[in-house]
Amino acid sequence: MKLSVIGTGYLGATHAAAMAELGHEVLGIDVDETKVARLSAGQVPFYEPGLPELLSKHVESGALRFGTSIAEAGEFADLHFVCVGTPQKPGELAADMTYVDAAFTALLEHVRPGAVLVGKSTVPVGTAARLAQQCAAAGGALVWNPEFLREGFAVEDTLRPDRIVIGAEDDDARAVLERAYESILATGTPLVVTDFPTAELVKVAANSFLATKISFINAMAEICEVTGGDVTKLAEAIGHDDRIGKKFLRAGLGFGGGCLPKDIRAFMARAGELGVDQAVAFLKNVDEINQRRRARMVDLAREMCGDSLAGRRVGILGAAFKPDSDDIRDSPALDVAFAIQRSGAAVRVYDPQAMGNAKDSYPTLAYAPSILDACDDADVVLHLTEWAEFRSLQPDDLASVVRAKNMLDGRNVLDPQHWRAEGWHFRALGRP
Ligand code: UGA
Repeated sequence: MKLSVIGTGYLGATHAAAMAELGHEVLGIDVDETKVARLSAGQVPFYEPGLPELLSKHVESGALRFGTSIAEAGEFADLHFVCVGTPQKPGELAADMTYVDAAFTALLEHVRPGAVLVGKSTVPVGTAARLAQQCAAAGGALVWNPEFLREGFAVEDTLRPDRIVIGAEDDDARAVLERAYESILATGTPLVVTDFPTAELVKVAANSFLATKISFINAMAEICEVTGGDVTKLAEAIGHDDRIGKKFLRAGLGFGGGCLPKDIRAFMARAGELGVDQAVAFLKNVDEINQRRRARMVDLAREMCGDSLAGRRVGILGAAFKPDSDDIRDSPALDVAFAIQRSGAAVRVYDPQAMGNAKDSYPTLAYAPSILDACDDADVVLHLTEWAEFRSLQPDDLASVVRAKNMLDGRNVLDPQHWRAEGWHFRALGRP
């Protein structure tokens, strides 16, 4: 099939390449000319394992190309995926719908009668019903198809999703989308067909649940901290109950990124507009627990430096909001680094992939080209994003460069006994 993808960020670029991999002819459209130029040259403008190979393969074969003209998308295809972002509005909890609205308005000026428009952006419930009217007025039909990909696993999650959700009012339009996903559905991937509001809610409900699970275990970490308990053992023990499960029970510095934080806030804002704010009032606690972990990290660093950070040197391992990503949106690691610097310490940050983005957004932080440089002469080392190269760190690797053997593990992946046996003062979140 011929199809277009509007918006080529993490979601759109991955979706475009994956659709080409499924055998479709794909045109990706973005307003950012620099991004389009890079994608057209087969380069991915962000770090996502496996995507550069997939993208260059299909750009070379001609199955995938990119452009800036939305009019061209209207001529090229009768199936269009809208994958633009819905960031948090500055100073508000609500999502900024400017890009979604602009993309639909522009696209609808150019589509042919009978075109199918697929919304994949994460939107406030009620958006699809509104956009469906706009699509119908232009002779097109809307289906809503939320996306569940995780950064770092984006290609895998798109080609082998654990479910496909389609919200539709029009059976013909739904059938077109099912045909586009035919080869995925043929492998037995569960398909949930529903109405518009349910499809929109599935996405925010899923992200709210995941955020709640993380904040739940981090709340237990707070209790462990005052009782001498060990949250990692607690998580292991409750995780054996398969009604609870082990996944997303890793206590530590908490969640960040472009999705979980803004999605729970936008959900609270939308529920407020609908007069059901009490239904999701608990998400405020989820958000607060998450923020408190960052503050706790700064407090622990201060304690380890003799109750003042002023004039201290702090080595920071990690800048991305999670490993295998260069995304620094709402990154807990950079938030902590910045707060520590504000307290008068000299910080040096190292991350395997996110340094470029970090330097752009936090130009006043100091950056180091390697783990050893970041930890050089440090009074304390903070482990904040669990990249493989940090997980495998050994006490001996750092012993000769640091000023004091103080290690603070914000992700609970280093072995406390091992570090303490080597003479380190080792602290972690939610552990004795
Ligand atoms: C999240 C969801 O997991 C995806 O299903 C969803 O499609 C995506 O948002 C989206 O809305 O587009 P992502 O933001 O890539 O994906 O990141 P996650 O893997 O969910 O991790 C989020 C944060 O939670 C990270 O900062 C991670 O370090 C943290 N986390 C995760 C924990 O602190 N503990 C855990 O046990 C798991």
